[in-house]
Amino acid sequence: MQLTNPFSAHIQTLQQRLESALQAQQLDGLVISAGVPHVHFADDHEAPFQAVPHFAHWCPQPDPYHFLVLQPGKKPQLVRWSPQDYWAEHIRPLDAYWCAAFDIVEVPERRASWQALPISGRWAYIGPETSMAQEWGLQTDVPLLVSQMDWDRGIKTPYEILCLEEATRLGALGHRAAKTAFDTGASEFEIHLAYLQAAGVNETELPYGAIVALNEKGAVLHYQHKRKEPRNGHVLLLDAGATYQRYGSDITRTHCAPAAPEEFKMILQRMEEIQQRTCQKVRAGISFVELHHETHMAIGALLIESQILRGCSAEEAVTTGKTTTFLPHGLGHMLGIQTHDVGGLQRNALGEPEKRSTQYPRLRTLRALREGEVVTIEPGFYFIPVLLDKARKDDTAGQYNWPLIDKLRGCGGIRIEDNVQVKAEGHRNLTREYLP
Ligand code: GLY
Ligand code: MN
Ligand code: MN
Repeated sequence: MQLTNPFSAHIQTLQQRLESALQAQQLDGLVISAGVPHVHFADDHEAPFQAVPHFAHWCPQPDPYHFLVLQPGKKPQLVRWSPQDYWAEHIRPLDAYWCAAFDIVEVPERRASWQALPISGRWAYIGPETSMAQEWGLQTDVPLLVSQMDWDRGIKTPYEILCLEEATRLGALGHRAAKTAFDTGASEFEIHLAYLQAAGVNETELPYGAIVALNEKGAVLHYQHKRKEPRNGHVLLLDAGATYQRYGSDITRTHCAPAAPEEFKMILQRMEEIQQRTCQKVRAGISFVELHHETHMAIGALLIESQILRGCSAEEAVTTGKTTTFLPHGLGHMLGIQTHDVGGLQRNALGEPEKRSTQYPRLRTLRALREGEVVTIEPGFYFIPVLLDKARKDDTAGQYNWPLIDKLRGCGGIRIEDNVQVKAEGHRNLTREYLP
């Protein structure tokens, strides 16, 4: 993939956005830290490192302790921590496509990184070492700068779309191989390995821990284990993505084996239709809360069609919270450097919060979509034991078809998730281009 020119345009856009944000806050410049590794308590082992997202937005260099030095009218500077070290490898990708966009200063140790900061005037700092930054005279309490940057980060540049597209292509390779493994009776663990191998990634290169759930585990929304037993599952819920230059895809597919109950297969078919109809509605200006509500209405109708609910209308199923028993999470979220990317909860660049939906408190995106954003569309339908047990004690418990629910509980649940770019007059479904 040819990324030099798109990256150069990406940096120009970020530089323009930052210059107006700094000016609005009367700041002379900004230092962004790549971050420091997390060391486990009472141990000397580090968690896999993730660069500070604001840093990753500017620079794909993936390790800790670097600084970006950003100021109006000046080429961005990368103060690269570059120690003489034989315990770990510190790659110097000086011919990578992105290097020409920076003035790169190599520093051998951490104190020298701070000393290399060419600071005079009012500078801000974003990163985890706030006490140290304050000692160096940097301002660390800059919420308006951060909310402006988060707001801007919602709108993806063409470079970012290319990265998300590549992350999607890799994720789709994994999903295909995982489906084949499931069809041949593989365990969760084996399906996970098939996914990693086909996507060509290792575990730490995933944007989030893959959810590989056979049967009833599909009802655990962020199920984290990979069991070696059972094999020959009748339902697979696989929620897994891949990253490319830190941009992650977030893809879910649900598959049934022939032995799955016919009622569950019908619900899966309908969920596929509901998910695709919802994706079709994505365009700039549409309210995400409205899309979420329409999804609940469709699930209300499905609960009645499948005879899981009797004696109530689709509308009543929504207003009385019965659809929430089967779909307790939001329809989707912003996607980018972070799997649950920033900006979905703020109403404007000032960071004022969008009014929470009282009916749907779990929604991560609460406002009208903007051209250039990327969102997930991921309706689900689950048989979640704690929520069903609660419903069984309801005044209206008699409206549920408990024998059917008890028959389908072992199937866990369904989620179907695509990543969709918002356009002025419509959308682009990145996922379906690679995983129809
Ligand atoms: N994998 C987490 C999510 O879909 O939001
Ligand atoms: Mn997901
Ligand atoms: Mn998601």
